[in-house]
This record gives sequence, C-alpha cells and structure tokens, in this order.
Amino acid sequence: MLGNFTYCNPTKLYFGKSAIDGLNEELPKYGKNVLLVYGGGSIKKNGIYDKVIGLLEANGKTVYEDAGVMPNPTVEKLYEGIERAKKAKADLILAVGGGSVCDYAKAVSVSVNCKEDPWDKYYLRMEDVDCEIIPVGCVLTMVGTGSEMNGGSVITNYAQKLKIGHVFGENVFPKFSVLDPEYTFTLPKYQMIAGFYDIMSHILEQYFSGEDDNTSDYIMEGLLRSLIHSSLIAVENPEDYEARSNIMWTATWALNTLVAKGKTTDWEVHMLGQAVGAHTNATHGMTLAAVSMAYYRHIMSYGLKKFVRYAENVWNVSPDGKSDEQIAEEGLKAMESWMKKIGLVMNLTELGVKKDMVESIADSTLIMDGGYKILTKEEVIKILTESL
Ligand code: NZQ
Ligand code: ZN
Repeated sequence: MLGNFTYCNPTKLYFGKSAIDGLNEELPKYGKNVLLVYGGGSIKKNGIYDKVIGLLEANGKTVYEDAGVMPNPTVEKLYEGIERAKKAKADLILAVGGGSVCDYAKAVSVSVNCKEDPWDKYYLRMEDVDCEIIPVGCVLTMVGTGSEMNGGSVITNYAQKLKIGHVFGENVFPKFSVLDPEYTFTLPKYQMIAGFYDIMSHILEQYFSGEDDNTSDYIMEGLLRSLIHSSLIAVENPEDYEARSNIMWTATWALNTLVAKGKTTDWEVHMLGQAVGAHTNATHGMTLAAVSMAYYRHIMSYGLKKFVRYAENVWNVSPDGKSDEQIAEEGLKAMESWMKKIGLVMNLTELGVKKDMVESIADSTLIMDGGYKILTKEEVIKILTESL
C-alpha cells in the first residue's frame, strides 16, 4: 500500500546548455555578499569559474571565496567554512562543483548561526536546524549524488572514523541549481562512472525495500533502464550530449525524495560504503560498487520476489523454465556484468582496505532496518570480507 505522505521540493532547476544564465534570474533575489564555494580547482581549468565570476560581477555582487573543498568534505573544513561565511557576512552561498561542494555548502549554511558544535548536533545527534539558515544555490559539475535537489549533506570525521549524512529539511534544499550536462564533460572517467554507480545505488536503496505494488517502484525501474542504456553510450563517448543529459536528469530524480514517497527504503549499501570511506577516503561511488554484489547476494533470499521483479523488469531476464532463485541470480549476474563493463571497482582491496581493517569498518557501519534483512555485526563482517 502506498503510505501517506506530504511532498514538496522547493529547488528551482535550470537545465541544459546555457543553463548558467539562470544565475541572472536568481542572483538579484539575494543580498550583495556571495560566498563562492568550490573544490580543488577543476572549475578554473575548464572555464566554469570565469563564467560564474563574470555573472556574479555583472549582478553587482561582492564575491568572497572558499576554495579547496575536498572530495568527502571533512569536519575540519566545515569549521573553516563557518568562519569564512561569518567574515563574508554571506547572503548567499554559491556552490560550484560536485556533491562534495554542494553538501559542504549546505553544512556551512546551517552551521554559521548554530550555537552548538554542528558535528555533534547535526551529525551525531541528528537534530533539526533551529537557527537562521544562509540560502544555498548550486552550479553542478559532477553527476551522481542528487545533492543539487535534496537536503543531504555528508561530512567525514576521520578522527572518529565516521562518515555521516544528515538529511536536512526542505528549507535547506538548494534554492536553485544549474544543471548543464556539458559542464560534466571534463570529469575524469573514474569519477564519471563512480557517479553512474552512485545513481544506480540510490535507486536500488529505495527499490529493494517493501513488497507493495507501488508507483515509485515503476518510476525507479524506468530510471534504472534509462541509466543502464545511457551509461553504456557515455563510457564509449563521454561527450554524447544525449546520454550525459539523460544521466544528469536521472541522477536528480534518483534522490530528490520523490521515489521514496509512500514506501520504505533500505540504505545499507550506503552505510557500508560510508564506513569504508571513513577509513580510506575512497571515492564514494566506488565504495558502493565494491560492496554491492556481496550485499545483494546475501539478502536476495529474504526479498526474493523483488529480486525476481528486478531481473525481469530491469535486466530483461526471461523467466521461462526457471526457478525464482535462478531468475533473481540471473538479474544480479546481469548487473554485475554491466558494472564490470563500465569499469567500476569491484572489490575493497583495490580501494586500500586490508583484512585487518574489516572489524573496525564493521564498527563504523550503521545498521538500517528498512531492507529485507536487518544485518547482524557478523553479517556485516561477512559481507565486507567477501568484498575484499
Ligand atoms: O575538487 P575539484 O577540483 O572540483 O575536482 C572534483 C573532485 O576531485 C572532480 N570534479 C568535479 N566536477 C568536475 C571535476 N573534475 C573535472 N571536471 C568536472 N566538471 O571530481 C572529484 C569528485 O567530486 P565530488 O564532489 O567529491 O564527487 P561527488 O559528486 O560524487 O560527491 C561525493 C560526496 O557526496 C556525498 C558522498 O558521500 C561524498 O562525500 N553524497 C551526498 C549525497 C547527498 N547530498 O544526498 C548522497 C550520496 O549518497 C553521497 O553520499
Ligand atoms: Zn550515494
């Protein structure tokens, strides 16, 4: 049964070639001081920085910069960003980059006026925001996280060996996001395909939960089919606009709250991947890819009906003359060969995980209760060990 829900997504999107001109519509809505947040410098190499600065200046803004947001942004960087935003008296935080930059901008936005330590309040205690928020806008340069249209913000605390995402409410969603598929053309292949798998994983985390006949599951099957189709084209030709634009749009819908409405969700693969990330600083999408096959094979029998549906509706597995187990396993095999074909990392060893780290990674893995099997610590260790 489709459960009760309220739905609202306040992020305004500007999509397509020249979407950046949307800044001319958005910037006048905010005060003079803009904190421009970006990463390690890719936007300076590909010209996006110059374009954004030009538009900020044309709109009469005073620009303050907060550069060097690393992939998997740290709590130490967050503390630095809070000081920068305070000094700038920022009226708007403009994030130009991938999920890390967008997530970080949201974390700064809710922390500047926060009376307590934001790591403790938002990430350890998972409390709501009760202070004034600085609005965030995004110019997306890497596709995958969905951060451009959601309240998610993931921060890593290496000292505590924890990588935690807080899903903030609608008031923290970006006020607007600029999505120009051509801005993603300069991504290195490793990052591009890691993003593709992040999208796949976001959909599967929401799909593999519950047994209901639910519109959201049909939408997800469509998104998955589109992603699989376009990803195979994009790995051959990264500048195929049709494929890259379809993938960009799929990523946004995969995690902007729509497909989770009215149903339960899992998110255990992300908990495993984030625990790996807290120990290795590995690329997010690759941590998910490395643990997925072991996880899904482990839980398959507990959610067999859904795995059969997945095999038939997403991977076109023919059911004729086969048992449910055979159909489901064929679906997972098809998924595994797609993963290998696009070039994903299929094991944790390649990400720097050693056998003697497994126990500690398991300790950092949060156990979710929305999937087909609530894992025990022994099962987490088994899945991680099988993923080595
Ligand atoms: O820092 P720069 O120099 O910009 O380089 C980045 C970075 O090294 C590079 N890059 C981005 N756009 C580029 C580019 N290089 C060339 N050309 C471009 N156009 O790509 C590298 C990775 O960027 P990053 O932002 O770290 O990647 P991603 O978008 O995958 O974000 C990962 C973070 O998002 C979190 C992850 O945990 C991780 O911390 N997530 C956020 C979610 C959310 N908000 O809902 C959900 C996700 O599950 C995920 O957990
Ligand atoms: Zn993800």
